[in-house]
Amino acid sequence: MGLVSTSRLSEGMILADDLSTPAGRKILGRGMSLSAKHISMMKVWGIAFADVEGVDQEELLSQERSLMETMGRSDSIVQSFFPSHQGDGPCSEIFHLCRERCARLIEEEDSDGLSEMTDHRRPEELPSRAGLPVDKPRISEVIGGDVPLCSLPDIYFKIREVIQSPVSSARSIARVVGTDPNLSLRLLRLVNSAFYGFPTPIRSISRAVAIVGIKELSSLALAVSTMSAFDHIPSSYVDMRSFWKHSVTCGVLARVLASRRKIRRDDHFFLAGLLHDVGRAILYVRFPSHMSHGLGVSRFFRLPLAEVERRLIGFDHGQVTFRLLESWRIPEPILGTASWHHEPMSSENPEETSLLWLADWMANAMKIGSSGTFYLPPLDEGLWDLTGIHKEELRSVFDQAERQIEEILRIFFIA
Ligand SMILES: [Fe+2]
Ligand SMILES: [Fe+2]
Repeated sequence: MGLVSTSRLSEGMILADDLSTPAGRKILGRGMSLSAKHISMMKVWGIAFADVEGVDQEELLSQERSLMETMGRSDSIVQSFFPSHQGDGPCSEIFHLCRERCARLIEEEDSDGLSEMTDHRRPEELPSRAGLPVDKPRISEVIGGDVPLCSLPDIYFKIREVIQSPVSSARSIARVVGTDPNLSLRLLRLVNSAFYGFPTPIRSISRAVAIVGIKELSSLALAVSTMSAFDHIPSSYVDMRSFWKHSVTCGVLARVLASRRKIRRDDHFFLAGLLHDVGRAILYVRFPSHMSHGLGVSRFFRLPLAEVERRLIGFDHGQVTFRLLESWRIPEPILGTASWHHEPMSSENPEETSLLWLADWMANAMKIGSSGTFYLPPLDEGLWDLTGIHKEELRSVFDQAERQIEEILRIFFIA
């Protein structure tokens, strides 16, 4: 028998002694075989160790050593893209959470997750400007005209039309949604996910409309439609899978953060997060040489990509996001929150927009998907204060978001 830390317990281990909470209340008896539920309960109750049968101390010691090695490796990976001065505030807390996430990826041998964490090598030399046009493009040239990549699928407009009709009903909306099997399937999966957390399964679109509400359902339809609007962008310009992974991560985090602030109408945060960087996808396609040069410059000087875009082409992807969402007639507050994610103070509602700014910063720190920004800029203290989030809340924000991100990614990419 031997003491095993809760994080290293596994199903089927037998308790060699009674297990009690830190307050001394016995919760499981000696001889009990541990289930996954027991182990997660122990974490909730803050129980750090359990005495289990059949584990020798030698083996435990070697496990501890390998844990220390993993933590050391994860520390140097995460340190390499975090700001060097973290203080003891939120930046340091997010650093620790990312370090734990990275250690988990190492232990699970998750090579995809790890390569996202480590793909940020700084180029040896400053990228050359050779081949870049001398004249800077004008933002009015970016959106408009005959640009097929910017059009939303017809289904979105059909849904909007039926929602705006004075005689619309859950049934009439469901009929329109039902004409698109891909949209129907994803919407049903989404409303049945932990993200919405309804206690009973929702099996029909009309029931989904009735429960989720017409406005929310049109938002979800927009989310799904937006992704298909960018379906045909060639991977030589931008890896759209990685792009959407970052966007979904940002959307989920924004929504979780907004629910912490007890903002009553928080459904627009997920959409604002999902849409916040669409301007970047447009820039990759419209100005591939500027953007590939910009990515190199951003890595070389460890600068945020939006800042490099402003210097290089005169405007940033936030402004392009604004133009595109405006042309799609996406309403406020989604439009403003998404477009000002790099400059919340310029938006009409800086407090709410600062939540999306923080979600974006945290999404970059988690390294789920890519936003083009490899090195994290220092966490702006003024904007952090504006969010109203407490440092102590970050761990549960992180945990809650991580579970939902996984589920939403599965829905969007596997359905
Ligand atoms: Fe951005
Ligand atoms: Fe972003």
